[in-house]
Amino acid sequence: MFSFEQISEEFARKFNVRHFPETPASLYEPAEYFLGIGGKRLRPAMCLMANELFGTINPDAYHVAIAIELFHNFTLIHDDIMDKAPLRRNMATVHTKYGESTALLTGDAMIVKAYEYLNRVNPLQIQRVIFHFNNAARQVCEGQQLDMDFEKKEHVNFDEYITMIELKTSVLLAASLRLGAILGGAGKGNQDHLYEFGRNLGIAFQVQDDYLDAFGDPARFGKQVGGDIKANKKTFLVIHALESCGDPKREEFKQLMKSNAADKVERVLAFFRECGVDTWAAGLKEKYISQAEFHLEEVAVSSARKDSLRNLVRFLIQRDH
Ligand code: IPE
Ligand code: IPE
Ligand code: MG
Ligand code: MG
Ligand code: MG
Repeated sequence: MFSFEQISEEFARKFNVRHFPETPASLYEPAEYFLGIGGKRLRPAMCLMANELFGTINPDAYHVAIAIELFHNFTLIHDDIMDKAPLRRNMATVHTKYGESTALLTGDAMIVKAYEYLNRVNPLQIQRVIFHFNNAARQVCEGQQLDMDFEKKEHVNFDEYITMIELKTSVLLAASLRLGAILGGAGKGNQDHLYEFGRNLGIAFQVQDDYLDAFGDPARFGKQVGGDIKANKKTFLVIHALESCGDPKREEFKQLMKSNAADKVERVLAFFRECGVDTWAAGLKEKYISQAEFHLEEVAVSSARKDSLRNLVRFLIQRDH
């Protein structure tokens, strides 16, 4: 069995090639720029690891893994426009470097390229693969819309937040695992447990992302720290702070959230700390991680085959970028 590092290297060998034509360079250079600045390649690694649980890696799993990573990069390019994010992977975002219209088209070209890779899957499995891929893709759009709707809503509850992050983030991790499992010939029970593993892991992953957006080390995080606060995102940090502080503080916090004060980020962070949300986050992550681990243990393959996915869980939860 390959570790996450080994499988990522294998994936990189196939993925780190030129994916787009030379011309028009004004469209394809931004695409190659973005793919060239890295990323953790988490989702394709998960697809390949799920595939390998059931035997040696199927070549179609690489086609799907590449499609998933291209789709993920498409979502990031568009997400950075929506979130007005200046930095990604420690580099300028596509719209900052090349303009919004080009960034939209670069993302579009990337999703089309993703389907070109899906189209290489064997005829017996292609329909099922596209069904699950599309399902996840549609849900990502739904989650992204909710995320933006919540920016303008004064009150968002915790369940609404979980639903939103499940849609925008978890389903793609979960689908990556399911697709790898399908191509490995896994039965429905194993597929479902892997999906649930990914769904719960994905929630913990987005919780960590939201935590790092507030408390991460800018040098390691690679994105603008405080961006969610500036954009008025309703992360669990905001929801928990509002729920746990007393009435007078709550009003003060609400006013602060609405303001465009130059020191808004520092003041909101101080407020988060005062309410203990940074320590509360650890318990929240653990809850979803242990649910994820439960489903991984239920996957009916030998325990040793699951070691690399077990290790991945720990890596993800301790991540600082
Ligand atoms: C970023 O995903 C988007 C989220 C769902 C939080 P990653 O943290 O996997 O991004 P890269 O690909 O490693 O840059
Ligand atoms: C975005 O969540 C998830 C998707 C791209 C679908 P975020 O907006 O929190 O992701 P980052 O922090 O920009 O990577
Ligand atoms: Mg974003
Ligand atoms: Mg976003
Ligand atoms: Mg984020």
